[in-house]
Amino acid sequence: MRVVSSVTQAQAIIDKSLVQQSFDDASQCYNQFTSLQRTIGDRLMAEKKATISQSIAALDVGVGTGYLSKQIAQLKNIDTLFALDISLGMLQQADNAMRGIKPIELFCADAEQLPMGDSRLGAVYSNLAFQWCDNLQQVFSESYRVLQPVGEFVFSTFGPATLNELKQSWQTVDDLVHVNAFVSVEEINAYLRTAGFQKVSVRSENIVMYYQTPKHLMLDLKGMGAHNMNPGRQHGLTGIQAFKMMIGSYEKKRTAKGIPATFQAVYAYATK
Ligand SMILES: C[S@@+](CC[C@H](N)C(=O)[O-])C[C@H]1O[C@@H](n2cnc3c(N)ncnc32)[C@H](O)[C@@H]1O
Repeated sequence: MRVVSSVTQAQAIIDKSLVQQSFDDASQCYNQFTSLQRTIGDRLMAEKKATISQSIAALDVGVGTGYLSKQIAQLKNIDTLFALDISLGMLQQADNAMRGIKPIELFCADAEQLPMGDSRLGAVYSNLAFQWCDNLQQVFSESYRVLQPVGEFVFSTFGPATLNELKQSWQTVDDLVHVNAFVSVEEINAYLRTAGFQKVSVRSENIVMYYQTPKHLMLDLKGMGAHNMNPGRQHGLTGIQAFKMMIGSYEKKRTAKGIPATFQAVYAYATK
């Protein structure tokens, strides 16, 4: 596997080394936890309107284990496929997954600093990676920079209603940050326009997943590498007492289907 690496540890609100470490750890058992991600990735691509009329190079940002890249590879006129991830472990998984489907060029890099020249690509795609970037304006400006005129930008991310039940349950216990902060549809719209994108279309839907217990949810989040990465999170062990209180509060939300957990999926489409 040949990987071009350009990751630097920039000053970040979300701790990038933790994101990297967390996804490296999760990369081995990651595919057990992906049904939500796959549903969102499928919807993202199914609603994509523009068709590609000439041969282009496309980039999958935050390739993970390569689920979206497999779909991108099926699109017409994809000449070259680049896959980028901050986690080397994930790139290894993607490399294995794409064997025999389509050759991909791998980049270990940060979505906020794309290692590509200006106007190099015909399309930039990403499924559920941008929620780990603390400077979305920079991410969008970078995607705009590497796209050719009329190139398409298609991505999904999580919106602020994500894990509302978990946030509310922690709020009954303390004021610490226990859940990552997610950017709203309005902000995403504004950032895309500021970056220079046209034909911007952003929509969201709430998808409610049900878990046997709050602990099963937490394990699932950990398996996705999706647990809390903010510096405001509590360092050291969260007190057992505090954790039990949160679980008790979450249990009050139990329905016949189990413990609910809302994920606000945001789907965005834009053109340079
Ligand atoms: C939830 S996974 C999604 C994977 C894949 N797109 C899919 O649909 O299955 C998020 C991926 O984004 C990567 N990631 C997180 N922050 C990143 C960043 N700043 N730059 C590049 N990749 C990043 C993670 O390493 C992880 O592989």
